[in-house]
Amino acid sequence: MKKNHANINNVTDSPSLEPAFDKGLLPDALTTFDGNRIENAQDWNNLRRPELLKAFASAIYGNPLQSPSAIEFKILERNDNALDGKAIRIQGDITCKDLKLPNPFRMLVYLPKSAAAASPVFIGLNFQGNHTITDDPEILIPKWAEQKFPRGNRADRYDLDLILSSGYGIATIHNADIEPDRPDARQSGICGALLPASPKDDEAATITAWAWGLSRGLDALLNLPEVDPARVIVWGHSRLGKTSLWSAANDLRFAAAISNDSGCCGASLTRHILKDGKSETLNDIIRNFPHWFIPGLKQYIEHEEKLPVDQHELLALIAPRPVYVASAEEDRWADPEGEFLAAREASPVFRLFGHHGIPENATMPHLKESVGQGVGYHIRPGKHTVTSFDWQAFIDFMNANLKSKPDTFN
Ligand code: GCU
Repeated sequence: MKKNHANINNVTDSPSLEPAFDKGLLPDALTTFDGNRIENAQDWNNLRRPELLKAFASAIYGNPLQSPSAIEFKILERNDNALDGKAIRIQGDITCKDLKLPNPFRMLVYLPKSAAAASPVFIGLNFQGNHTITDDPEILIPKWAEQKFPRGNRADRYDLDLILSSGYGIATIHNADIEPDRPDARQSGICGALLPASPKDDEAATITAWAWGLSRGLDALLNLPEVDPARVIVWGHSRLGKTSLWSAANDLRFAAAISNDSGCCGASLTRHILKDGKSETLNDIIRNFPHWFIPGLKQYIEHEEKLPVDQHELLALIAPRPVYVASAEEDRWADPEGEFLAAREASPVFRLFGHHGIPENATMPHLKESVGQGVGYHIRPGKHTVTSFDWQAFIDFMNANLKSKPDTFN
């Protein structure tokens, strides 16, 4: 195995936190829309959580898509000596009973070979095809996929040696297998298959479609005895990090969630708008990626204060399951300070469940310092990507926070 060079204790300078942000501008996660204060976990689960989940669907991402009555995971290939004998590799196609999909979803899974018991697994979507996440020449390229990118093109974002040697598996599906990333997406992919020909405005948009696909990946993982069903962690980078958070909010079977550089409409606060204009706003994101969201989100451009929710509440919807938010110093577009503030302001909800979260008045941590319990955060030097440092922090956080069984609600 490659040596792990990520050292998360090697803290360097501290980035500055925008001092002007007034948290009083945010909606209070612990006050219901009709003004009642939530004081305990039970009221959160029964009163606040359902209304917030609905508000995110009707203001931003669209309603969840119907789940199939069953899925089939047809294994196409299995090798118990993959990656020089260190991993079990499984590749298979996911289809849904009673739903006619444009194509199956091809899933690639690597599991640590030496595991004594069922393994925790990170599941996430990838941008360019399963064959791009590794140099492994045996990755199957589906016949329905356009092969635009060479094998191993994104291998630098997946430190498989580190993940597997830490006892974790990893599973991935190409996002385009589920729904193409295009403005006409609601006519193709899963939305085209599941929604009426002219969908109503509040029905699923692309991020919801991708989130639905992650749940089907989880269904398939639950067929594998080598996977610990209580420790499947949904993760994602950038637009796929927005997706992992929304997926975990909706599907309680995910034991934990990770957002890497997910930014606007992901982990960063929509109301935290940098005066230098370097971070993405609702106006930017809707202009460039209208299909990710429902059409009604437009009404909040330059009226962010009227949104019924903000993104700290998306993180809170994952509580009490652990959630980790990672930023990169040079990734101003994703607004690291907005991501930190969202994690900090989600913390009161985690505290209802006995987690410490991030302390109330904490300021931005030092570079490479990982903070928080239940909800955690780091910012590392560098750009918008996924590094070995990030993976080491995800693993350390999950080792410290993930129980062998996810918390039950109530
Ligand atoms: C664009 C977009 C971001 C998104 C990113 C990505 O930069 O504006 O919102 O997160 O793409 O997915 O890489």
